[in-house]
Amino acid sequence: MKELTRAINHHLAAEFQASHTYLAMSIWLREKDLVGFSSYMLTKSNEERGHASRMIAYLVDSDQGVELPTIDAPQRDWSSVQALFDDVYDLEKGVTASIHHLYTLAEGLGERSATAMLDWFVSEQLQEEAEARFVCKRLRLAGDNSAALLLLDQQFLEGTALAHVKGGMGGGPQAGQAA
Ligand SMILES: [Fe+2]
Ligand SMILES: [Fe+2]
Repeated sequence: MKELTRAINHHLAAEFQASHTYLAMSIWLREKDLVGFSSYMLTKSNEERGHASRMIAYLVDSDQGVELPTIDAPQRDWSSVQALFDDVYDLEKGVTASIHHLYTLAEGLGERSATAMLDWFVSEQLQEEAEARFVCKRLRLAGDNSAALLLLDQQFLEGTALAHVKGGMGGGPQAGQAA
């Protein structure tokens, strides 16, 4: 297996692990009756599977092998909504680092179809980090005020919570197409 193919296969684990973790987060939030946050994390979980599918399609289309990873059982409990979203932000930063590593590798090897495929992911990660950072900051502002927490939950339910987060690239890849 080529070095880049192996690295892309390795990255699939990060996307599937994020999907699994976000599903666990969605369940925990639903158990706390935070329906807006919960549905946001369920959507994010599905998006992460979509990201893995996108890379799998690239591998298949370029006649490279796909090796699906083993996914660890995710954490099931968090001390607070703030702690949960701090974890989301950390997880996204880890995924960004992995994407940038793939990009550097693809560039060094002159694999232009791979860098073209990865361009989408670079924009996507900028948007994802901007969103996670925004939610973390909002939660810090809310502090121990449950009315503020419920208002943010309601905004997620209505789909307005992240309306002003643009990720620096005209709204990120999601603006034009479903991820
Ligand atoms: Fe992702
Ligand atoms: Fe993500």
